[in-house]
Amino acid sequence: MTEHLTIVEHPLVQHKLSLMREADTSTKSFRQLLREISLLLAYEVTREMPMTTKRIETPLCEMDAPTIEGKKLALVSILRAGNGLLDGILELIPNARVGFIGLYRDPETLQPVQYYFKVPDALHDRLTIVVDPMLATGNSSAAAVDLLKKAGANNIRFLCLLAAPEGVARMKAAHPDVPIVTAALDSHLNDHGYIVPGLGDAGDRMFGTK
Ligand code: URA
Repeated sequence: MTEHLTIVEHPLVQHKLSLMREADTSTKSFRQLLREISLLLAYEVTREMPMTTKRIETPLCEMDAPTIEGKKLALVSILRAGNGLLDGILELIPNARVGFIGLYRDPETLQPVQYYFKVPDALHDRLTIVVDPMLATGNSSAAAVDLLKKAGANNIRFLCLLAAPEGVARMKAAHPDVPIVTAALDSHLNDHGYIVPGLGDAGDRMFGTK
């Protein structure tokens, strides 16, 4: 991918996102919409994967049929909200390898601190797609990508549902080599770090917590 930021303006994505933004959308509907939208976003983020051909036999003749080249891709979810995107994408790419990164914000330094890290092997040979619905300050996303690069990943894409300009700028400064795919670029972050207009706390909305 050559663009640093891709906004998926497909009508289905935009319609579903608008439903997700509405404050009175139920947990059940929010989860279902996130699953549906994640399939459409996965379609976009996996564009330009290297292809090869394999010789197959149809009922009529032999042909060189296109197939995806290389090792299975890796999906890495940033806990906990990343899991909402992950579940849908796994329906489309059931062979993907899956990793998880847990980060919390140190109350003193406000910097992300890792509490869980488990990722597939041979990341240097895999397209690695990091998933987190909300790219807000970009601090945890940049930290997650740092950790993945240390673990050997060298072909990383970042997939989110909503991005704030602050988060996009942070990622571009820290990781200009990591393309971002999102359904929308919102206006700004408020004083509490929420994306405006946004959709609230994605984790709370998908899991029904407060
Ligand atoms: N995380 C969320 O869940 N929502 C925001 O608006 C920002 C970060």
